[in-house]
Amino acid sequence: MSTGSSARNCPFDFAEALEFDPTLRQLMNEAPVSRIRLPYGEGEAWLVTGYDDVRTVTTDRRFSRHAIVGRDFPRMTPEPIVQAEAINVMDPPASSRLRSLVSKGFTPDRIERMRDRTQHVVNELLDRMRDQGPQADVMEHLAHPLPLITICEVLEIPEADRAQLRAHARTMMDVSLDNKPDAVQAKADLRAYFAQLTAERRRNPGEDLISALATARDGDQVLDEKELTVMAMVLLITGQDTTTYQLGNLSYTILTRPDVLAVLREQPESLPQVIQEMLRFIPFRKGVGIPRVALEDVELSGVTIPAGDIVHVSYLTANRDGDKFDRPDELDLARTSPSHMTFGWGAHHCLGAPLAITELEVALGTLLERFPGIALTKPAEEVQWNTTSIWRYPLALPVTW
Ligand code: HEM
Repeated sequence: MSTGSSARNCPFDFAEALEFDPTLRQLMNEAPVSRIRLPYGEGEAWLVTGYDDVRTVTTDRRFSRHAIVGRDFPRMTPEPIVQAEAINVMDPPASSRLRSLVSKGFTPDRIERMRDRTQHVVNELLDRMRDQGPQADVMEHLAHPLPLITICEVLEIPEADRAQLRAHARTMMDVSLDNKPDAVQAKADLRAYFAQLTAERRRNPGEDLISALATARDGDQVLDEKELTVMAMVLLITGQDTTTYQLGNLSYTILTRPDVLAVLREQPESLPQVIQEMLRFIPFRKGVGIPRVALEDVELSGVTIPAGDIVHVSYLTANRDGDKFDRPDELDLARTSPSHMTFGWGAHHCLGAPLAITELEVALGTLLERFPGIALTKPAEEVQWNTTSIWRYPLALPVTW
């Protein structure tokens, strides 16, 4: 489609294994800030690719998330995935208050307890995988079940309720139009369930994350009933798919790069650092996520972004910025800085990152310890990849040991 503008049409549909999208690479090589058109939504947007500029857009209050609500902004999916009431589209100070209260649920001693529970779940899943041997699929046995079971354990959702909650969450995620009435019903059911559960935990707090959030205080601030209910829902739903897919992507990287496998076998204590470098290196999604709106004219790398314009950042290109990372396109297991942007940055940095890291460390560490001879049963080129979703991940990872 030609509109006479210099904006680049960006399908962002590249999905070859974990190779870097050539369109994104071209955009970042050509200019730090450019004009793009995406598959869905009205008009054009700015795309910001460099690490320092991404840091500015994600931390500077002149860029607002809330201002996208109600706008048909350029995006990757037919329907916006984000909901109007979610924390993802709040600005400070509303979001800071919520984030500060939620972060009290992820203190180091709480994370340690989550690690114990995660270890327990991983042990059981890997017992089942071993029993199924001598071949099994890591996606089916570990990557798919672990994040859901872990978050249910952390929220202490009774075992009997889990299958139903999972079905509701799945229905809510299905963006096809004819599913809409079911999705609305599923959301209402989930909300009613969590309203009851959170009220009960408020009256009778236990050791779980919902109780921690129900009793969290920041000065005289607490979460009200609605905030607590919505946050419990967000925690159940957000981060399950991403953690599943990243477990798949990191496992694939370890299994297809003998240098990585060798380092992890010889120095298992390097696993946390190796995970961080793999997270930087792996392009785990297609294109871009939720944008922001410039509230006033802002200059970025010599380009003036006018007030009212939609601005996307790319955490993927920021992770490959040659001004920040030496040899950015190499997986360098000795690399320790700067921080990658795979969990986002600034005002909307992933709230679940400590739990996600814990799951990755426990799952991958235990997998290598329990199955020291683990190897893919087919050549890397024959692994099949998802091509239809915004996430990039292997459909199956058949291994033997
Ligand atoms: C490896 C797995 C994960 C990855 C790669 C990931 C990545 C991200 C990214 C890129 C963002 C958005 C940043 C932005 O809006 O600019 C985000 C936000 C968020 N994530 Fe994660 N995430 C993961 C796991 C989790 C888990 C396990 C949870 C929950 C327990 C979680 C909860 C959240 C929440 C609540 C937000 C919204 C924060 C806000 O807008 O203020 N994530 N995550």
